Amino acid sequence: MNRGTIGFGIVGCGMISSWHADAILKIQGARLIGITDVNEKAVADFANKYHVKAFSSIDELLKNDEVNVVCICTPSGLHAPLAIKAASAGKHVIVEKPMAINRNEAEEVVRACETNGVKLAVISQLRFTDAVSKLKNAVDKGMLGRLVSGDIYMKYHRSQEYYDKGGWRGTWKMDGGGALLNQGIHGVDLLQYIMGPVKSVFAYTRTLTRKIEVEDTAAAVLEFRSGALGVIQATTSTYPGSPRKLEICGDRGTIALEEDNIVNWVIEGQESLNREITVRTTSSAFMDPKSISIEGHVRQIGDMVNAIQLDRRPLVDEYEGKKTVEIIMAIYESSKSGKQVEIGI
Ligand SMILES: NC(=O)c1ccc[n+]([C@@H]2O[C@H](COP(=O)([O-])OP(=O)(O)OC[C@H]3O[C@@H](n4cnc5c(N)ncnc54)[C@H](O)[C@@H]3O)[C@@H](O)[C@H]2O)c1
Repeated sequence: MNRGTIGFGIVGCGMISSWHADAILKIQGARLIGITDVNEKAVADFANKYHVKAFSSIDELLKNDEVNVVCICTPSGLHAPLAIKAASAGKHVIVEKPMAINRNEAEEVVRACETNGVKLAVISQLRFTDAVSKLKNAVDKGMLGRLVSGDIYMKYHRSQEYYDKGGWRGTWKMDGGGALLNQGIHGVDLLQYIMGPVKSVFAYTRTLTRKIEVEDTAAAVLEFRSGALGVIQATTSTYPGSPRKLEICGDRGTIALEEDNIVNWVIEGQESLNREITVRTTSSAFMDPKSISIEGHVRQIGDMVNAIQLDRRPLVDEYEGKKTVEIIMAIYESSKSGKQVEIGI
């Protein structure tokens, strides 16, 4: 058991890197050692702000013995190659979502972690909210009875300027997908976490309003291995965007979340909790990508620190990251072929 300080290095100093750096600063037993980016000015500014080392390249960062965990915060198309590189250097990895932009790369990441005996966490911060923990606990205890449906609605707004900035967003090569693989992935991960494995999908994806290569709108119908059915709606083209909604229904109860709030909790034979529900809007990420709370990153990076110290798996490991990539790739395949796509076990 290692109870010493865990050193972190960050690759990619763009928007989301501050969530990682600020989260690391808040976690007991974690220390930010340094950062790197292909943009020298971004590295210098970041290093000055956080008083950490400015590494000239990822190779330099990986050579540093104080760095135990590498946070990958680059455009999505680089996640898998950089995760494999970090794992091959013997470092634990925290990779922003998506873990990879196709099935083969997801498989290669899993193999690299297995071969090198390192831990990997895929950022999926919504799993760490109190509302999701309560929902998951209720479902796992069978409080909703037999699961009937699991639906996620992520009707977001992302402007054309959002896609044009940075040059990588909305491209197949570096974003790997659009409304689903970039934004909707959070909801897809929650669905499979709570409802269990997906058996098959039938889907439509379209590019309706934005000048991008990838989809800005997707609608999918799912069958879970349990026999329950589900719906995924993901878009970045609506105005002004609506709060994320997740609804899980069984033959004995229904629980619904809006953003990070429980907005409906009714279980047969029990007094409804709805009178006690007070809705606090904690996030408006559906309209503004910068409005995500830091708490999820603090909890998830804290989970990784604890996983290393206790030598256990982090909650969202490489196998979990791969499942979500597989569901989204099946959705793309179904839209392309016009056919239902089965997902292998
Ligand atoms: N968890 C979340 O809620 C959340 C929110 C936003 C973004 N993200 C994810 O974070 C990732 C980054 O998004 P962003 O909005 O910060 O992007 P960004 O464009 O603001 O930043 C990306 C950074 O990576 C750097 N970079 C590019 N190639 C590099 C390389 N080869 N080596 C090192 N650095 C390199 C760029 O110079 C840039 O500074 C994306 O994959 C995105 O999906 C996750």
